[in-house]
Amino acid sequence: MASTHGAEVLVASNRGPVSYAVGEGGALRPKRGGGGLVSGLSAIGPEANAVWVCAALGEGDRAAARRADGGLLPVADTGGQRVRMLDIDADVFADAYNGIANSVLWFVHHMLYQTPLEPVFDAAFRRQWAAYEAYNRAFAEALAQEAAEGAAVLIQDYHLALAPRMLRRLRPDLRIGHFSHTPWAPAEYFRLLPDDIAAELLTGILGADRAAFLTRRWADAFTDCCHAVLGPGIPSGTRIGVHGLGADADFLRERAHRADVDERMAALRAEIGEGRRTIVRVDRTELSKNIVRGLLAYRQLLDAHPEWRERVVHVAFAYPSRQDLAVYREYTDQVRKVAEEINERYGTPGWTPVVLHVKDDFARSLAAYRLADVALVNPIRDGMNLVAKEVPVVSDEGCALVLSREAGAYAELGEDALVVNPYDVTGTAEALHAALAMPAGERAERSKRLAAAATALPPAQWFLDQLHALTAQSS
Ligand code: F6P
Repeated sequence: MASTHGAEVLVASNRGPVSYAVGEGGALRPKRGGGGLVSGLSAIGPEANAVWVCAALGEGDRAAARRADGGLLPVADTGGQRVRMLDIDADVFADAYNGIANSVLWFVHHMLYQTPLEPVFDAAFRRQWAAYEAYNRAFAEALAQEAAEGAAVLIQDYHLALAPRMLRRLRPDLRIGHFSHTPWAPAEYFRLLPDDIAAELLTGILGADRAAFLTRRWADAFTDCCHAVLGPGIPSGTRIGVHGLGADADFLRERAHRADVDERMAALRAEIGEGRRTIVRVDRTELSKNIVRGLLAYRQLLDAHPEWRERVVHVAFAYPSRQDLAVYREYTDQVRKVAEEINERYGTPGWTPVVLHVKDDFARSLAAYRLADVALVNPIRDGMNLVAKEVPVVSDEGCALVLSREAGAYAELGEDALVVNPYDVTGTAEALHAALAMPAGERAERSKRLAAAATALPPAQWFLDQLHALTAQSS
């Protein structure tokens, strides 16, 4: 297949490094995305002639993709890197993204299913699966078109589990990597999936030269699944890698001291009240983040340790996520309801126990990080969880970290965190108590060590490590 732009390095992911909003008179306003991949891509320099292939997600993206007509769009501040947005049929996209990626694969890897109602793999599921295949094929074909001979292609996440094998068939000359940003399910849970689907997902990823994960635990689970489902396990041509993405200390520290963050700190301080401790959490309102049990643990803290009443505030930011799905909307309502119940039951005229914000605001998140005495990160399961890594880096006075043992970050931060079983509300309440009661000196020392561990592999290096490992690998 002829190469259109001859890229030497390619990234593929559902969500891209830029998105477009439609402004006045139909003008398209680009907004650069954040995250480790964008920083990583900026680090490789223009000579790589990199291309990022992603899906057009909203109206603005679709309009931009149509205007580009298969061509490339620029990504601001990334040293000339460019993006190709795929204008995938809206129904195909909805079935692939909401149906399979977010309602099946996300639920399997985060072990979120609740019997007796879930899961049901019926004819509707099979139709969505066909859309997931079509979506992956669109990516494989675009990558095959854009890549120069022997180029390195880094394919991201559960949305694109089939693309590596599809691409391998189209372009055997390429170096293909796949990276999972989620946990990987244990074999017994993964085998909830119909056998043929489980096998397709695994062989899809095994089409890559390298399958990489955020922690050894998720990599081992993937290997176990290959043995359990495919028999012979990992073929000799595929290597397994582990790269634990860290926080971007330089970016965070600079960004957290700008004027907009100072303004939000003043507003938050007014909401919290003078001299009170803060327990901070910042999450997408996502079922795996376990926000409701976090609130229940806070309620139990106020019950079991009444000495904290009026002396602590739980600052909880729960930003909307995947609101097309009813289960996420219901979860958002539940978060709101439990927070209101706590405020009604315990609040006093001068004290609001829970300060809940649901409107996404990065500057305000950083303001909360700076004010945090305690960070609460209690996911049911999480690939890494960058909030656990970011708060110790940014907090002004150093923070204690209450951390779920099921977050990938536990592997690197477990020693200095107060570790909890995410289902154990009583255990989490007691860990919050211990974190609040921790002497300031100990808290500052632990926080310093947490920040050092959290920044060991900054995003640019994380990206370059993967790229080098892929290109150094002999086939
Ligand atoms: O954790 C996996 C991941 O793909 C992250 O990279 C990202 O934060 C999240 O899921 C994105 O979810 P969505 O694109 O559905 O909002």
